[in-house]
Amino acid sequence: MSWREYWNQDTPIYSGERHKLLHYRLVSNDIVALLPSANAQVLDYGCGEALFAERVARQCSHLYLCDGAPLVRDRLVERFGANGRITVLAPEQLDHIEDGSLDLIVVNSLLQYLSLEDLRGLLAIWRGKLSPDGRLILADIIPHDVSPITDARALLSLAWQGGFLKSALLGLGRTAFSEYRKIREEIGLSHYAEDEIEELLRDAGFVPRRLERNMGHNQARMTYEARLAAPDNGDPV
Ligand SMILES: C[S@@+](CC[C@H](N)C(=O)[O-])C[C@H]1O[C@@H](n2cnc3c(N)ncnc32)[C@H](O)[C@@H]1O
Repeated sequence: MSWREYWNQDTPIYSGERHKLLHYRLVSNDIVALLPSANAQVLDYGCGEALFAERVARQCSHLYLCDGAPLVRDRLVERFGANGRITVLAPEQLDHIEDGSLDLIVVNSLLQYLSLEDLRGLLAIWRGKLSPDGRLILADIIPHDVSPITDARALLSLAWQGGFLKSALLGLGRTAFSEYRKIREEIGLSHYAEDEIEELLRDAGFVPRRLERNMGHNQARMTYEARLAAPDNGDPV
């Protein structure tokens, strides 16, 4: 089973409804804070259930929600299908978005599930969709030295503040014996050092900058902003 297939089912990643709600609320707050203007065209790529997408959509011109899992997309369509400011797309449908039209692309908590080859391919696609001043945000990137224990600690801290400590502890126990753990051991997660992600972004034609805060609750992980590099006009330096 690939990671993309894994996500096409109900997973034990969230310990319960409260965890899921708090998670998506945090992420939506962070996306709203990144919006450049009320006219912004935005893509949330690998969006998951995006429970607060309407909140984001109210503050921008259009929000594209793209996810690789048909089950996730069905739920998005059910929840947001009537909202004219939201379009749900499969990754294969990104050509519905005009080239050079997006002001913000957010990719939160996805890179760990992508092979290097897939990430390179996606960087080229995202690059083509960004407007000249647009920003690509790659968030929740896992550095090499971050262990599952660090992740568990960050979750428990969120759970303590959010009042779902007991269900988080049970959830961690469930995850330890779950398919997630098995696939994590078999396929692994992609980790990146700062210089690796910066080199990848530069190779793909972006100017990278690490942001101070990671999106969401886990500050052991990294968020990068990437803007389009100026076109090389061939002049000698
Ligand atoms: C960990 S969840 C993150 C969801 C959301 N971005 C968030 O911040 O909570 C990863 C999501 O990426 C989707 N996904 C996995 N591989 C993908 C791919 N190659 N293209 C698009 N979506 C993908 C999965 O279906 C899943 O919903």
